[in-house]
Amino acid sequence: MQLQERIAELKKERNAVILAHNYQLPEVQDIADFVGDSLGLAKQASTAEADVIVFCGVDFMAESAKILNPQRIVLHPETKACCPMAAMCDPASVRMLKKDFPRADVVAYVNTSAECKAEADVCCTSANAVKVVNSLESDLVIFLPDENLASYVQRFTDKSILPWPGHCPTHESITVEKIEKLKKEHPQALVLVHPECRPEVIDIADGVRSTEGMLNFIRGSDKREFIIGTEKEMIHRLSKEFPDRIFHEVPGAVCPTMKLITLENILAALESMSPEVTLSPELMDKARAPLERMMALGRGD
Ligand code: 13P
Ligand code: SF4
Repeated sequence: MQLQERIAELKKERNAVILAHNYQLPEVQDIADFVGDSLGLAKQASTAEADVIVFCGVDFMAESAKILNPQRIVLHPETKACCPMAAMCDPASVRMLKKDFPRADVVAYVNTSAECKAEADVCCTSANAVKVVNSLESDLVIFLPDENLASYVQRFTDKSILPWPGHCPTHESITVEKIEKLKKEHPQALVLVHPECRPEVIDIADGVRSTEGMLNFIRGSDKREFIIGTEKEMIHRLSKEFPDRIFHEVPGAVCPTMKLITLENILAALESMSPEVTLSPELMDKARAPLERMMALGRGD
């Protein structure tokens, strides 16, 4: 029997749902019940009624699923699938920064550990970062952990943003030179980039969107050709949704840890019902409040 069939059988037996991020391997996206961005996945996880959620993405996404729906068993098929940017921020340093700036509100991008989220007033994703920041009381905002997303949000708010010095290595690898070269090769193409990109890349883009926001942008556009300034697997999702359009990836834009989830370890997770995401109830309670505050605000793109 094919791996895909065995997964489908076990999924039924376990009453499981498979959620996958837009950067997952094509074959993983193809067996998922839902494929989306961080915000869409958090929404799906929070309303999931299945007994088991198999989360195909990186650590912080699986943790958020567990925090938002703690009654469910959340399986993360490969625990080494971590986000290096989330690992750039630690709760002790956040607490020190909060002491230095007591009147600041703290926004934690979802790409943070549950411990860092627990220190925040509110979370955000790339789909609602501007909306979240502008919803706050204080005119001073500590923004964790992506300095590029912080600088993007700064373009749309009068508040002062104190950025945490973190970044995504995958999006940092997308340079002006690479985009300019692609533009020369495909002069008809529009440039869509993720807000985790460097500011100088954002400056030359035609649109700046979360991964799901890119889909919505393309749906509303009459252009045929697009340069996609984010992780390369986004193009698998886009090509399925828009088979009549042409998409160009940026060479080297790969998130290696996203690729650690495979059909083999999804099947193994369903067989052994592990590795399971477990967090202490106290930590989950603290991290849930900023996540739920974000969910109530909804999408901004
Ligand atoms: P999205 O929420 O836009 O899918 O982005 C998640 C991410 O990790 C980007 O690198
Ligand atoms: Fe983290 Fe970047 Fe990978 Fe997104 S693409 S999961 S931010 S390392």
